Amino acid sequence: MKVLVINGPNLNFLGIREPEVYGLKTLKELNEEIEILGRRLEIEVDFYQSNHEGQIIDKIQQSYNVIDYLIINPGALTHYGIGMRDAILSTGIKTIEVHLSNVYSREEFRHKSVISDIAIGKITGFGSESYKMALHYLNSLKK
Ligand code: DQA
Repeated sequence: MKVLVINGPNLNFLGIREPEVYGLKTLKELNEEIEILGRRLEIEVDFYQSNHEGQIIDKIQQSYNVIDYLIINPGALTHYGIGMRDAILSTGIKTIEVHLSNVYSREEFRHKSVISDIAIGKITGFGSESYKMALHYLNSLKK
């Protein structure tokens, strides 16, 4: 099973960015944890981060027929990234939406997601565990 983990805008600033909301773990540390779990579960995991919607769209398109599942934290694009939504729809890649913070306990504009309705599911509010829960779920799909 091949899984791509995409992180959107400002997630490269984890560790610096609003630590009271997102914690002190850097993106590198987060990805290392996911990679270790992936190895344990025998799931091949790749990582991509960009601050630009167009680059995220390119990456999703390039993943067409290449990966089995996408785990994505689109950052702020969650709330308005229609092009990213269209890329997920265009490729038909099965997607899990994840967030570090609980978007529902925050500002109202974060309650809306443009991809929740086309995702397998959404995990929000568990910090780095959100990504790992997604990976555990995908592992449960293996025959
Ligand atoms: C986030 C929540 C978004 O509202 C925010 O714009 C982010 C991070 C999260 O992981 O909690 O950049 O996706």
